[in-house]
Amino acid sequence: MALLEVSDVVAGYGETDILHGVSIAVDEGEIVTIIGPNGCGKSTLMKAVVGLVRVKAGAVTFRGTDISAQPPERIVRTGLCYVPQSANVFPSLSIRENLEMGGFVRNDDYRGRIEELFALFPDLARRPTQQAGSLSGGQRQMLAIARALMLDPVLLLLDEPSAGLSPAIMDLVFERIRGINRAGVALLLVEQNARESLRMSDRGYVLAAGRNRLEDSGPALLDNPEVARLYLGGRR
Ligand SMILES: Nc1ncnc2c1ncn2[C@@H]1O[C@H](COP(=O)(O)OP(=O)(O)OP(=O)(O)O)[C@@H](O)[C@H]1O
Ligand SMILES: [Mg+2]
Repeated sequence: MALLEVSDVVAGYGETDILHGVSIAVDEGEIVTIIGPNGCGKSTLMKAVVGLVRVKAGAVTFRGTDISAQPPERIVRTGLCYVPQSANVFPSLSIRENLEMGGFVRNDDYRGRIEELFALFPDLARRPTQQAGSLSGGQRQMLAIARALMLDPVLLLLDEPSAGLSPAIMDLVFERIRGINRAGVALLLVEQNARESLRMSDRGYVLAAGRNRLEDSGPALLDNPEVARLYLGGRR
């Protein structure tokens, strides 16, 4: 049984459908990447999975339970956390306060978890009182990821974690992501930097216009001529 199973999901905004029956799966411990052109529905798919966009048809199953109609606050408690593409930290709060907000729905004492995350993200540990709004793009992205990890997810959804970062900082973010995965967390990524992301992925999906277009292992997609032509231009 897959950890996450999205079956024939139809979803969108108001009357307009953006996803016309999309299916994906993530197994325990996997890294899975979704690529596709701008506006094809990648972010909408993530929002549908976490309950921020209504699933009109089809189903989202997580750990064997149908979560398609559950509210986001309930879904995060089951071990599925999400870092949106933008506005993913509280800019006026400090690093530590952001992490505390991330742990807010935990019923236990979350201070130990903050220390664990500071060990995983040394750049954040060095300046716990700095306002999130004054962090660099890379540091902010690390904070957003760390905040989601406060809830000890089994599966973490990251929408374009490397967007807008310099190549060196991007490599660092990807290295952290691999570290999170080595610690046992499954990852579903949406990425514009398809080459770097597919390289570290077990499997990947290509979406086009709200539909599944291709699906294969990470290495096979990297070798696929259509993927190379459309998504792997530029930096090698
Ligand atoms: N809140 C919204 N209300 C109405 N339409 C929206 C909303 N958010 C996105 N859309 C539309 O839904 C379509 C898919 O958007 P989505 O953000 O899912 O694409 P994406 O694949 O993530 O694109 P990108 O690569 O630019 O991030 C687009 O046509 C977009 O304009
Ligand atoms: Mg998007």
